[in-house]
Amino acid sequence: YILSLVLVVVLALSLQGADRYNSFLFGVDYYPEQWPESYWEQDARWMQECGAKAVRMAEFAWRLMEPKEGSYDFSLFDRAIAVLARHGIKTILGTPTAAPPKWLTNKYPESLLVYPDGRPANDQSRRHYCYNSPVYRRLSKQIVSAMVEHFKDNPNVVGWQIDNEFNCHASECYSASCRTAFRAWLKAKYVDIDALNRRWGNEFWSQWYDSWQQVDLPFPSPAPHNPALVLEYKRFISDSVISYQKDQIDIIRKLRPRDFITHNHFFKNINYYEFAKDLDIFAYDNYPSFWDVPQYGVGAQLTLARNFNGRMMVMEQQAGAGGQTYLLRAPRPGEMSLWAFQAIAHGADGMIHFRWRTARRGAEEYWFGILEQDNVPRARFQEFKQEGADINRIGPEILGSRLVSDIAAIKDYDAEWVFDHQYFTNEVSIGAEFQNLFQAASELKYNIDFIGPQADFSRYKLIFGPHLILMDQQLAGKIKQFVEQGGTFVLSAHSAVKDRDNAFTDQVQPIMLADLFGVEREDFQCYPAPSRGKNALSFAGGAKVPVHVFAEALKLKGADAVARWDADFLKGVPGCAEKHVGKGKAVYYGSFFNLDAARYLTERHAAEAGCRPLLPGLPGQVEVTRRSKGNTHYYFILNHSPESVTVHPGEGFFDLLAGKPAAATLTLKPFGYQVLRK
Ligand code: GAL
Repeated sequence: YILSLVLVVVLALSLQGADRYNSFLFGVDYYPEQWPESYWEQDARWMQECGAKAVRMAEFAWRLMEPKEGSYDFSLFDRAIAVLARHGIKTILGTPTAAPPKWLTNKYPESLLVYPDGRPANDQSRRHYCYNSPVYRRLSKQIVSAMVEHFKDNPNVVGWQIDNEFNCHASECYSASCRTAFRAWLKAKYVDIDALNRRWGNEFWSQWYDSWQQVDLPFPSPAPHNPALVLEYKRFISDSVISYQKDQIDIIRKLRPRDFITHNHFFKNINYYEFAKDLDIFAYDNYPSFWDVPQYGVGAQLTLARNFNGRMMVMEQQAGAGGQTYLLRAPRPGEMSLWAFQAIAHGADGMIHFRWRTARRGAEEYWFGILEQDNVPRARFQEFKQEGADINRIGPEILGSRLVSDIAAIKDYDAEWVFDHQYFTNEVSIGAEFQNLFQAASELKYNIDFIGPQADFSRYKLIFGPHLILMDQQLAGKIKQFVEQGGTFVLSAHSAVKDRDNAFTDQVQPIMLADLFGVEREDFQCYPAPSRGKNALSFAGGAKVPVHVFAEALKLKGADAVARWDADFLKGVPGCAEKHVGKGKAVYYGSFFNLDAARYLTERHAAEAGCRPLLPGLPGQVEVTRRSKGNTHYYFILNHSPESVTVHPGEGFFDLLAGKPAAATLTLKPFGYQVLRK
């Protein structure tokens, strides 16, 4: 009886959480404080005409809401929220802590972020604060408490964004507060300073600490720092951000338990799989002009963002050209909405565009909104309106549907941070390897997920491990179980090299996994950039895959060699090996995943592992993803090219945008999109 009672309570609580984000929000980022109040009514009317259901506001407006320490004034936002509400538009409030007011930084200079050279950040832009400053944390909690207290009965507020883009612009701080907090963080972890000394190997270069007071942040030094220190510093930064965010979440949850809470976008030095556990939904800020080929570059980013906690929306969707001191290209006609639909295709359950109207003054006067500075509705406005109609037609139905993927790649933040420091050559980029894996899956028309090491592997058929440099028993055990139960696991070079202390061990590499993969790493070469052309793996059957940075020589211990090196002292030596284990297959690939390798390995293993393409016969510039809810599937078909294209999805689909059965053959306009249900 007690057990079932507990289960009911747990179920009720989890449902409450799942329900907080419960409608598909389409809208814009709106800054009423930057415009005459006489504009607001027309703004709201036009937004409504375009189908907007929500705006985000206030995320940089601390000075307005707290003009003097401890005195608050939310009246401007009360009025703006009310005007929008009369037009059926709800508000997502941003907590304003990304932009502290001058009274704060003047009175409490210790709250400023500090650069590695010891200079405090200048306080004339944004994100210039320190997460560990006790006074900044106190004042952040105060403004958020005052805000939540003020808006607690406002029915037109539906959600909260915490701060804005943590770690954008700067992702490290060297303040006195961070130094103190770092020591305390290490002490809590290691307890005994000598335990830390031993695990970090501090006899090296006489680095043994006699006391906690001697431990310091990795300030600039003549020679590089101990990799163990650097990795711990990054983990510490990540934990600092998570705990800073948690302060604000706790305040909101207490007074507004039904509102959803989100944070927008990802940057360096935060483990987002941990970070996003505290959020109802993770928000992606989508600026495709940062990529030469957004189809794959952005697709890979969305794949990552969607998997942090399983739910994603877009909080800032690029509307026009954009820049601050630089200027990025504008989307071509139709491309803004195609990009929005790409995000939805990858799981977004909300679409908020940046920004309603382009600013006339300030650092971002070149970030173009739906309207320009002159407030004249032009082609972007019309495109936005059409997009709104399309999204509102499909939004309620697709809300909560998820991408189900057979293929995954494991993203381990520890590994990324190790490589940020020990980068080897300027060709090494884990981010680029994830993009290659995404592109390979996308070209073959498969969904793919990027998952953390803690994720449930059993949902997948094929998993890639792109240089999982640090290994532990738990992860090794999960990989083994996955393979034994029928999965194919492809591990890249320089994986399972060190332990979680970022230290080498006395084991043969790949440590903890040599048995499973049936190989031992005998030797390796690391080719300077460009590595391409310096060696290649020749597979039986004739395929040749060019080396990427690392070429490893494998000694077979139960696996079969499936490819051998072409050149150098490694000529003829096995570089890729496969071993059948239980019902599955362990594949060791002795180089990094360039696009050639990602394509070859996906093609070689996906079909064999039982993966089925979502829709066959689509050309390269046409992307397809599938979102599912139970047995209902939604196919998103996206034409990334400026030419129209004809595709043949076949019979039996329902065209969600047109609201009628789909023809077996469809023509997509330049940058056109289709959503088909089956
Ligand atoms: C985002 C940020 C916005 C705005 C936008 C355009 O990174 O959250 O506040 O700066 O980029 O630059």
